[in-house]
Amino acid sequence: MVESLMHRNPLGRTAGRLAMVGASLALGVVLLCSPAVRAAETAAAGEAEHAVEWKSWKAGNSIADTASLQRGAANFTNYCLGCHSLKYLRYERLGKDLNISPELLRKNLMPAAAKPTDYILSSFPKADGEAWFGRSPPDLSLITRSKGTDYVYQFLKTFYVDDSRPTHSNNLALEGAAMPAVLSDLEGVKRAVFSSATGGEGKMLERFEQVAPGQLTAAQYDAFVRDTANFLQYVGEPTQVEREGLGIWVVLFLLVFTWFAWLLKREYWKDVH
Ligand code: HEC
Repeated sequence: MVESLMHRNPLGRTAGRLAMVGASLALGVVLLCSPAVRAAETAAAGEAEHAVEWKSWKAGNSIADTASLQRGAANFTNYCLGCHSLKYLRYERLGKDLNISPELLRKNLMPAAAKPTDYILSSFPKADGEAWFGRSPPDLSLITRSKGTDYVYQFLKTFYVDDSRPTHSNNLALEGAAMPAVLSDLEGVKRAVFSSATGGEGKMLERFEQVAPGQLTAAQYDAFVRDTANFLQYVGEPTQVEREGLGIWVVLFLLVFTWFAWLLKREYWKDVH
């Protein structure tokens, strides 16, 4: 076997091998670029948002975008943690997955009394939630898995004024939502104009009318909500960040392995004919 290996024609084999390596590399590059392609596609989809079609709005987020996840974590701490917890995630894990140093984590994301090993719990007392809102703010660890990331995006973008409600606001995605429009400082206040034609599924939105401006432009607010929804998608399954990164290497390994297996097969079969 060793002898016969030495007597083979080296030139023809080298060309064949080079072709295989080239093909593996090309496929690897395509795979590595795919998150960027996806992000570009979704950004284009985001521009075409129309209020009437709010049910088909897509978050257009990317779990591979660590900067977006970091911004989302900050948004959550500043605007949601007052009421909602993430009871299956520890601060320590969050820092590790999102590349946030322990110092920054402590300074910007953790309450003063919290330890890195603590779960991300809200200090909001459950009983008060029922007394104030009629419903306790739910834990949001699994919200994107139960209702979807796009749903969270739609929910945060479809609050409108409704004086018949105790919170003076209502929501298209969750009719009669007990959650107040907590982001109205950023988004501004908007009124929903419903179409007089009765659709199959209750009220049909015709358009939104801006009643008061917010601190952010519409595009900035969309980005804020996208980052927040992206972060909540990460929280729903923290391993997906690592898994997506690992997938590429597994595929590359399989390609290289296939190449070796093929070489071995060729070696075994060469004397059979
Ligand atoms: C003042 C308290 C409060 C704050 C702050 C708050 N929420 Fe809520 N949230 C609630 C309450 C109460 C509910 C329950 C609503 C219901 O079931 O009617 C809720 C429900 C939700 C739901 C579930 C909706 C559903 O379909 O069941 C999501 C998602 C959500 N909140 C996201 C957020 C996000 C993201 C933030 C931060 C930007 C936030 N909330 C800030 C009180 C709050």
